[in-house]
Amino acid sequence: MIVCRKAVSGDLDTIVMLMQQLGYAVDSNTLSARLELILQEEKSTVLVAVTAQQQVVGCLQVLISHRLAEGNNGEIVSLVVDETQRGKGIGKILVAAACNWLQEKGYGKIRVRCNQIRTDAHRFYETLGFTEKKTQKVFEKKIM
Ligand SMILES: CC(C)(COP(=O)(O)OP(=O)(O)OC[C@H]1O[C@@H](n2cnc3c(N)ncnc32)[C@H](O)[C@@H]1OP(=O)(O)O)[C@@H](O)C(=O)NCCC(=O)NCCS
Repeated sequence: MIVCRKAVSGDLDTIVMLMQQLGYAVDSNTLSARLELILQEEKSTVLVAVTAQQQVVGCLQVLISHRLAEGNNGEIVSLVVDETQRGKGIGKILVAAACNWLQEKGYGKIRVRCNQIRTDAHRFYETLGFTEKKTQKVFEKKIM
């Protein structure tokens, strides 16, 4: 049986490994600082999926954004299920846990921005009832 709970610092090594599987090589110290910051926030959290043997097999971050034009939305980021555990319903459980977290805070909509190349993930979200809204380019610039 899989249950979802808020991440704790003891999950760090597994989350480092999961972020690598997602394509982000983040060192442990950097990720530790990010996790600590997120876990202090009211508007965001990190959830992990845990087996009956207390093994962490997936994670996501859920956050709330208040946008002038688009209003208030929940958003999923950094969703990944351990590559040895995919196709067992764990991603679906994590997304349901994110929806619960948002609903308890009074938010009625959830979205996810997904890289165009992650076509498997697109099908996963469609299976879960998400519908495609738009395609975007992301721009960034260093300012410090
Ligand atoms: C996308 C991901 C999180 C899905 O997690 P998962 O645990 O393998 O998915 P689940 O087993 O919970 O699947 C839930 C449903 O989606 C469907 N699904 C999952 N992957 C699918 C795929 N590639 N194509 C079609 N359907 C798919 C399943 O069949 C299942 O349907 P059902 O509820 O009708 O049985 C996982 O594959 C992953 O970590 N991928 C790499 C990282 C990634 O792309 N993350 C998303 C970033 S936006």
